[in-house]
Amino acid sequence: MKSIKIFAPATVANLSCGFDVLGCCLDTVGDEMIISLTSEPGVRITKIEGADLPLDTKKNVAGVAVEALLKNCKNEIGVDIEIYKKIKAGSGIGSSAASSAGAVWAVNHLLESPFTSHKLVEFAMAGEKLASGNAHADNVAPALLGGFTLVRSYAPLDVIKLHTPQDLVMTVIHPQIEVKTSDARSVIKQNVTLKQAIHQWGNVGGLVSGLFTEDYDLIGRSLEDVIIEPMRSILIPEFANVKEAAIKQGALGCGISGSGPSIFALSKGMDTAKKVAEAIREVYIKTGLDFDIHISKINNQGVKIIN
Ligand code: HSE
Repeated sequence: MKSIKIFAPATVANLSCGFDVLGCCLDTVGDEMIISLTSEPGVRITKIEGADLPLDTKKNVAGVAVEALLKNCKNEIGVDIEIYKKIKAGSGIGSSAASSAGAVWAVNHLLESPFTSHKLVEFAMAGEKLASGNAHADNVAPALLGGFTLVRSYAPLDVIKLHTPQDLVMTVIHPQIEVKTSDARSVIKQNVTLKQAIHQWGNVGGLVSGLFTEDYDLIGRSLEDVIIEPMRSILIPEFANVKEAAIKQGALGCGISGSGPSIFALSKGMDTAKKVAEAIREVYIKTGLDFDIHISKINNQGVKIIN
């Protein structure tokens, strides 16, 4: 029986201006999984620790994603999956994506890589469809490719890995209230004005350009969302105060992480990221809500093997 243990990273999707198209990969937060090839064909979830999730393969995002991969294999293959969840469900830092991406990455590795990372994104999206009703790729793509990614197109799928400036550090606060991605998607109006669209695509271009040229000021100016944030931020306690505190401490930008309730702030350098963490902690302590704060460099590798 061939087996590996992997780290399946958390991710921050949208990055303010890039709803459903931009995302980046974290280094210090993620799940662990043990994936094994077995002689008995089919996919089994044999163990889940750290979360109350279904063991039924068809109801589990990792199971569904691996089944999507196996449909593209000629031989009958057996896979056992153990999941050690560290990313809380409904946190907005890609909990379901970590499981889907981690599982398909590991199976592909054990099969000696018949599929490209880009193809794995497609398989992992089957897990996202199960989790939120929508096969978005802005968490699974950075989890699989590492760094920052752009989904240029969904049909056909065209995912591009962007450049990661070395000094970027992410601070994420996770208020312990659950916001389901499906609920956070249902509050979004389906129409945008041309004025909003112009504002938003200017920022997407600015952010992509800022990443490639390592222009930190441009990255900061582009971390702005005039479409989704005004609709979703009402679901997140103290959002405006957290944002104000983060920017005051020197964060380049601050916004909703994925569908929330987590809030991310991107900074240049670890010192600023730590000051931002302290400032947003002070805002949240007053709410009486439980919360976690994560500080992480950008993980340019994505899913990786651990011991
Ligand atoms: N782009 C997705 C959304 C990400 O905002 O609904 C979910 O993590």
